[in-house]
Amino acid sequence: MSKILIEGGKKLQGQVEIGGFKNAAVAIIPAAVLAGDKCVIENLPKISDVGALSEILKNLGATVVQRDTNTLEIDTTNMKQCFANYKMAKELRASYYLLGAGLGRFKRAKVIYPGGCSIGTRPIDQHIKGFEAMGAKVTIEHGIISVEAERLAGAEIFLDVVSVGATINIMLAATMAEGNTVIENAAKEPHIVDVANFLNCMGADIRGAGTDVIKIKGVKSLRGCNHMVIPDQIEAGTYMIAAAATGGDVTLTNVIPKHLEAITAKLKEMGVEITENGDSLRVHVCRPLKNISVKTLVYPGFPTDLQQPMSSLLTMAKGTGMVTETIFEGRFKHVDELKRMGADIKVEGRVAVVQGVKKLMGAKVCASDLRAGAALLVAGLMAEGETEIENVHFIERGYDKFEEKLVNLGASVRRIEE
Ligand code: UD1
Repeated sequence: MSKILIEGGKKLQGQVEIGGFKNAAVAIIPAAVLAGDKCVIENLPKISDVGALSEILKNLGATVVQRDTNTLEIDTTNMKQCFANYKMAKELRASYYLLGAGLGRFKRAKVIYPGGCSIGTRPIDQHIKGFEAMGAKVTIEHGIISVEAERLAGAEIFLDVVSVGATINIMLAATMAEGNTVIENAAKEPHIVDVANFLNCMGADIRGAGTDVIKIKGVKSLRGCNHMVIPDQIEAGTYMIAAAATGGDVTLTNVIPKHLEAITAKLKEMGVEITENGDSLRVHVCRPLKNISVKTLVYPGFPTDLQQPMSSLLTMAKGTGMVTETIFEGRFKHVDELKRMGADIKVEGRVAVVQGVKKLMGAKVCASDLRAGAALLVAGLMAEGETEIENVHFIERGYDKFEEKLVNLGASVRRIEE
């Protein structure tokens, strides 16, 4: 068991390079199953979710070779089926992408019912609705989801809720289905576009990714390809928030500023200076920050994955702020931990009212999920004295070399093993 110790109060300064997008990587690795060939995936973040998915693919008969720190060669030629019914797959929500990919390639797949971060009820009814519309039979028995189709046919699918996971899973299944599939009310997140680009690079025919209507013309077969994962919007947003939280001056490199517009707008509203220069962004603070209201929305709105780190930032901004979480009802578990550090936050339903305080104080806190962990890192950087964060494995699921990156920016962060 590792813990992270942070001595707070140091301004973050310097340059940080943003890695590949976790949420794209965890869909692209399962998508490689569809190729039945060798794919080379570059700019993968070195995080535990990527490691776990590589292991899952190996267990399913793929050859996975680490070419260098951020590149995997995935050869799925010899895979015969896609039955991932074991515990490792349960830990990881993205293992459900093996359902869409397995259905597309083998016309059947089985995956243990996905777990992932505990941030509210996370139904998969829209995934199932999509698979069934394409002619698949879906059964859930003893915690295992099975999908099977004698004939997988394109269909028109209107999603009742905008779901990233369902949009990607249906895209995966539809890539090699017979005929045309249309996904209406599709999610528009940057990683949907990245996954579609990867599939198109393998020979798929997908148009409209990034809009709310995605059209997929089924193709007979796919081939291997090389793909470079886009920069991580959420990692970038977290460092922007951390820079602002410490009154720092940080330049983020390897970012797509367009993907960060919602975060940039909110930080500017607080008084943070942000300047864009090609694929880098400078975030610096020259005046006291004021509190604001933040509401999470689907892309291009403010991402729910940054709501938790953002609430940490608001705890010390002047005045009263309001955070409204519209995507996941259970995403306020970090609040009790922030209160331990002296924050003044009241949660009612999906709204948290944050009254800015003069200081946070270091405390022993525990991460309840990945982005709650990021929120506690931000709070620890802001707080007076030492903060000890438990459950570091959650943070490792999504942040590549976060200690090294923070130390390079001047933070005092160290790990203790127990
Ligand atoms: C993905 C991201 C996650 C992010 C979330 C919202 C990955 C690996 N994870 O999660 O980091 O927080 O998008 O941007 O990309 N819903 C249903 N039925 C379904 C599916 C979803 O009701 O079948 C609901 C969910 O409960 C939630 C909302 O739709 O309220 C959005 O969920 P979804 O976009 O599917 O999130 P994930 O794909 O799980």
